[in-house]
Amino acid sequence: MANVRLEDIKRRFNNITAIEDITFEIPDGEFWVLVGPSGCGKSTILRTIAGLETATSGKLFIGDRLVNNIPARQRDVAMVFQNYALYPHMSVAQNIGFGLQMRKVDRKIIQERVMNVARSLSLDHLLDRKPKQLSGGQQQRVALGRAIAREPQVFLLDEPLSNLDAQLRDDTRAELKQLHQELGITTIYVTHDQVEAMTLADKIVVLNRGRIQQIGDPQTIYASPANQMVATFLGSPPMNILPAIYHNNGFDVSGQLLTIPAVVKEKLQLRQEHSYDLGIRPEHIFINEPPSRQGREEGNEGQLIVEVKVVEPLGRETLIRAGLPGSAVVLNIQVGGDVRLRPGDRLSLQLDLNHLFVFDPKTGDRIL
Ligand SMILES: Nc1ncnc2c1ncn2[C@@H]1O[C@H](COP(=O)(O)OP(=O)(O)OP(=O)(O)O)[C@@H](O)[C@H]1O
Ligand SMILES: [Mg+2]
Repeated sequence: MANVRLEDIKRRFNNITAIEDITFEIPDGEFWVLVGPSGCGKSTILRTIAGLETATSGKLFIGDRLVNNIPARQRDVAMVFQNYALYPHMSVAQNIGFGLQMRKVDRKIIQERVMNVARSLSLDHLLDRKPKQLSGGQQQRVALGRAIAREPQVFLLDEPLSNLDAQLRDDTRAELKQLHQELGITTIYVTHDQVEAMTLADKIVVLNRGRIQQIGDPQTIYASPANQMVATFLGSPPMNILPAIYHNNGFDVSGQLLTIPAVVKEKLQLRQEHSYDLGIRPEHIFINEPPSRQGREEGNEGQLIVEVKVVEPLGRETLIRAGLPGSAVVLNIQVGGDVRLRPGDRLSLQLDLNHLFVFDPKTGDRIL
């Protein structure tokens, strides 16, 4: 096992800079997740660590060893790709033991290790089967098993669950987490799925356009996103963004005045008549009871009137999409599963201003 350190890694393809300024250090045994939208550079970083891609500049260490010029097979890393390929003519046991056999490990030892790995992945009753006799999830676990059996210093996983159905994804995700807790192998996991990132990671690295946006543990990134991209990327449904203009008493949001407490105003040092983007998560918006029909009473802090557009019952909770009258801005609101609303209903909303974010619309940076 080993720590992994990237120092100012950059990768260019002709004129395209795929990744830039990539610097982080993963302590030995931790599980880190690289997350971000398609094309942000996740696979490029992983492939660079694996040695399948060469950094244009920067330094890469695995343990204490500078590995920039060390070929992939000497780096002692195991990578599982999104489109893993099992050998169709080999049994599960042969597939899992393949890497060891290639390295001429003693047959007895191979057998033992294959058995251990198979047991930890609940594959021990399937060892004699061929891949086509397995379900998708079982095949996926064989691919993971093949990587685990090598007992690498570092595990690199590129969207390893993406071709599983929803239920299997959830199950395999939990198995993977448990496996990591047992084996403690340094793991770097790539996904564009923010739920996977949140549930698996010791630390999340959020990427956008080839650059790191923020590094932190899941709770910190969720509660204190560094900028609007991070804020809207993590969380489902995503954080609501309301374009607003600051006036004396508060924010003009599509013609409605959202008043905010004086203490918040002082802290923010907002500029009069300037544009800001307000951010509020769906779970921090509440419906005022009773719903006011005429509009809200002036002076109530953090209130907005909206009109229900779409109601999506999800069982435990119901998701409401509601529009600000006379504007295209739509808010996602999460309410209890027993709340019954219909399109066209007018609601008076209460925003929890302790959880209001303010972003600079030009840079996306967080001001509050
Ligand atoms: N061999 C290549 N030649 C030219 N450009 C490339 C090459 N490989 C990757 N890129 C570009 O580098 C950027 C990062 O690609 P990368 O595959 O790392 O993205 P990703 O985050 O893994 O995306 P996805 O979620 O779609 O897999 C993209 O803009 C991509 O088009
Ligand atoms: Mg990729």
